[in-house]
Amino acid sequence: MGEEIYSGFSAKELFKEGIGMTYDDFSILDTSFTNIDRNEIVLETDLGKGIVLKTPIIAAPMDTVTSKELCIALALQGGIGCIHYNFKNPDGSPDIDKQVKEIESVKRFENGFIENPVTVSPENTIADAIQIGEKNKVGKSAIDTFPVTESGKPHGKLLGLLRKQDYSRTKHTDFKVKDRMVPLKKLIKGEWPITLHEANKLLWEEHLLFLPITDKKCNLRYLVTRSDLDKNEEYPLATKDENKRLMVLFAVETRPIAYERLEKCFKAGADGCIIDTSQGYTRYEVDMIKYIKEKYPDKLVIGGNISTPEACKGLEEEGLNSYRCGQGSGSICTTSGAIGVSRAGASGVYYCAKATKMKTIADGGIRQVGDIVKALTIGADVVILGNMLAGTEESPGNTIIDPESGLPVKIYRGMGSKEANVGEIRGYSRLPQGVSGHVKYKGSIHEWVPLIRDGIISAFHVLNCKNIKELHEKMNKGKIRFEKRTVGSLRESNVHDLLM
Ligand code: XMP
Repeated sequence: MGEEIYSGFSAKELFKEGIGMTYDDFSILDTSFTNIDRNEIVLETDLGKGIVLKTPIIAAPMDTVTSKELCIALALQGGIGCIHYNFKNPDGSPDIDKQVKEIESVKRFENGFIENPVTVSPENTIADAIQIGEKNKVGKSAIDTFPVTESGKPHGKLLGLLRKQDYSRTKHTDFKVKDRMVPLKKLIKGEWPITLHEANKLLWEEHLLFLPITDKKCNLRYLVTRSDLDKNEEYPLATKDENKRLMVLFAVETRPIAYERLEKCFKAGADGCIIDTSQGYTRYEVDMIKYIKEKYPDKLVIGGNISTPEACKGLEEEGLNSYRCGQGSGSICTTSGAIGVSRAGASGVYYCAKATKMKTIADGGIRQVGDIVKALTIGADVVILGNMLAGTEESPGNTIIDPESGLPVKIYRGMGSKEANVGEIRGYSRLPQGVSGHVKYKGSIHEWVPLIRDGIISAFHVLNCKNIKELHEKMNKGKIRFEKRTVGSLRESNVHDLLM
């Protein structure tokens, strides 16, 4: 007596047999007495380089997942998206500028100070302005209010403001902007330097929706908007940089074109990059890590994909701080069958996280909220989701009705699939390592991610852990208990004996 009694296994015992374990292969047991409140639980995870996620979710860099719309919505909900690199010109060659535009849209979405507002020239027609606004959408809405500068460029001499209420989209199309804008002498503006707080105060005091901010010579420096302030209030979890802009990552390859991509995407304001390769333990990746760390020391670089402690140690020695853990475990992956080198998702995460101080990003095979909880519990600091986000309103592509089930669905495809055509972009044909299909429509990120958060918080509550650090400490001390699952247990844990 007096001895502590534990049921189940510790994580160490669970994984020790050298068997590939997936998230389905074990459950977490409720052995902890809960004496914390749900509102004490914080899901925050610090990725480094100033990127702190209040929701430990990264959207996978995949062309059926990470549109700018999804990256904006996820960042507002406390996660972060990674803009994929599979944009192509009509001749099939890579189009870096499209990726840059997506990044710019995310960075422009919710600014305290909008650095590069969309501007027009006084000589533009209203029709031109409407077209420029359509081209520069923020989320799904076209821009309809524009600072007017002499040159028509974002930092030119400010001459006025063309607001939505200043023109009719039908009656005034042939008018010049200068004939409909509010001219400078009637305009309330701020003068740089000004704090965001002061700018906000001015907006409210003067009942304004937009406040242009100029330098002493009247050159436009920034634009501050009321809708951004409203969004600030609405999304307290939002992942933002020091200028209150949403944060975003981009995918980069290990081929020579990467140097141009890095330069342009970081210039566009991206906060970090993922070296997006299925095989990260290579000379190419090491060279890329070294290059990025030296040239862009303030930016986050995420390496991978890897799934063994050997690879972790190898990349950690090169100064990497975070990596994607998972090879062949993704829902659209056929890597295991194609090349035979892969690892079951949970085993990879457990062994890698144990072997390194780097941030472990569990990637692949996460199908439900419980899998996110399991990944975090066995050592992950954050998860990457492809499948779980692909069917959302904000992911690219249209929702269609699946003829067999009658359910709304969206396309989801592996980046190594024939359909994503990555072989062609690389200039040689490859055996596909992924497939394409459909996933169920899930509604908006703004409804789905809060539900995911709710599930994770419920689990932390049951496990009596206030944050991810506590969870890891408890797991490492053997105080979180696990049990292996049989086929029967799997069947039992899904809906059974029910006509639906
Ligand atoms: P889930 O399970 O969330 O996995 O759909 C997303 C992850 O899968 C990886 N990925 C691929 N792996 N062939 C692969 O072997 C592919 O075509 C492919 N496309 C994506 C990637 O790591 C992603 O985050």
